[in-house]
Amino acid sequence: MGRLIVVSNRVATPTETKGSAGGLAVGVFGALKDAGGVWFGWSGDVVSETVANAGPTLEQDGAVTFATVGLTRKDYDQYYRGFSNATLWPVFHYRNDLARYERDEYAGYRRVNAWLAHKLVKLLEADDIIWIHDYHLIPFAEALRSEGVTNRIGFFLHTPFPAPQILLNIPPHEELVKSLSCYDLLGFQTATDQQAFHDYVTRHARGTVRADGIVEAFGRKLRTGVYRIGVFPDEIAEQAKRYESRQHVLELKQSLEGRKLIMSVDRLDYSKGLVERFRAFELLLERSPEWRGNVTLVQIAPPTRSDVATYQKIRHDLEYEAGRINGRYSGLDYTPIRYLNQQYDRWKLMSLFRESQIGFVTPLHDGMNLVAKEYVAAQNPDDPGVLVLSIFAGAAAELSGALLVNPHDAIGMCEALQRALQMPLDARQRRHEVNMAALRENDLGVWRDSFLTDLRSMPVRKPGEFGSRT
Ligand code: G6P
Repeated sequence: MGRLIVVSNRVATPTETKGSAGGLAVGVFGALKDAGGVWFGWSGDVVSETVANAGPTLEQDGAVTFATVGLTRKDYDQYYRGFSNATLWPVFHYRNDLARYERDEYAGYRRVNAWLAHKLVKLLEADDIIWIHDYHLIPFAEALRSEGVTNRIGFFLHTPFPAPQILLNIPPHEELVKSLSCYDLLGFQTATDQQAFHDYVTRHARGTVRADGIVEAFGRKLRTGVYRIGVFPDEIAEQAKRYESRQHVLELKQSLEGRKLIMSVDRLDYSKGLVERFRAFELLLERSPEWRGNVTLVQIAPPTRSDVATYQKIRHDLEYEAGRINGRYSGLDYTPIRYLNQQYDRWKLMSLFRESQIGFVTPLHDGMNLVAKEYVAAQNPDDPGVLVLSIFAGAAAELSGALLVNPHDAIGMCEALQRALQMPLDARQRRHEVNMAALRENDLGVWRDSFLTDLRSMPVRKPGEFGSRT
């Protein structure tokens, strides 16, 4: 079996893979350890041109090499801050109203992909398989192919793939989809995302989707599949239990003085539906005075991409809403919303989830949303909390034990909170069992292994024959 090469915009550090990293990093690192290989991507640093060109920096951990490069200011601005996060991210999350398009940023995006691919080529061996992650790196395979790389290359999209009418808002949409056709395997989070890609291919690229799942487009053939990313639920359950009597949990418990707890954890992103969530919580206090002083919403929202204007606006909007709602309903000994712009270690979050009666996860659009899955896994089976989940999270298709809500329906969300707060133990346990069974059946290992098995089953491209393979 050849080595595995993983490419993603951000690369976990060797230390992070041993503790604090999120589910994805743990899953990917597991596969890398088994097969041996390289994890390649941006170091997270903005550096001078000389330093950028000198990279990659290599760090070895057993059979895994972490290879990272810095980006110059111009590359960071055009590739990361610009086209990736001010064009692709909003459009892929159905927020054309927040998207902008600049030709020079798109050119920078392609240039950085080609530059990164060129750096990776030097680290490749003939029988490596290559797994590229997420929207930052759509043209990566095309760049590798143009350097003569014939290895199997797969791509997994962690965000939604938008319906064609939405994608058309990005002027070079055709070029982007054509770039995707250079992969051997495209993985999506949900059947809806896969269907959206197929719809684009058939309606806008004169391509076909064969009955055996092979897509023919732009004179190329590739496979697509749905791989629903998961978590390792029993490890999370064990972690949440192990840390349940640590200081941070005891402090929280003490400060709640017996009040019910609603927990939400998200990157501070406009796709997460945070303003709508705060307003639904406000409505609960407005419509049901008996809950005033008796329920607290803890919203943990570490800032992200804070040099992109749309993120500055959402931060401002949330600060305003939290202040307004707290001003309206606080008492001398009670603050309804505790809004924290801080990053917490995963093990701390899991144990906080276990203390809460509701996990409130209501994105406007989300590829999967692993927080929803982590919340379920962290619950105490003897007294589990209830997950209130947006229908627009990929996880909604799997977690049938959740109370599903439409984040645009404030009253509906408020009613779901009421229902969850009053739900009897046996109903909570039944829902929890259903959700846990779904998590176990489709855990992170299943996601990773099924993607890699499918990728390995693809025929290797022959030199000079790119595009003519059957
Ligand atoms: C999302 C994306 C990931 C990204 C993460 C953090 O989950 O799908 O690719 O790594 O956000 O975003 P950041 O811009 O901080 O790297």
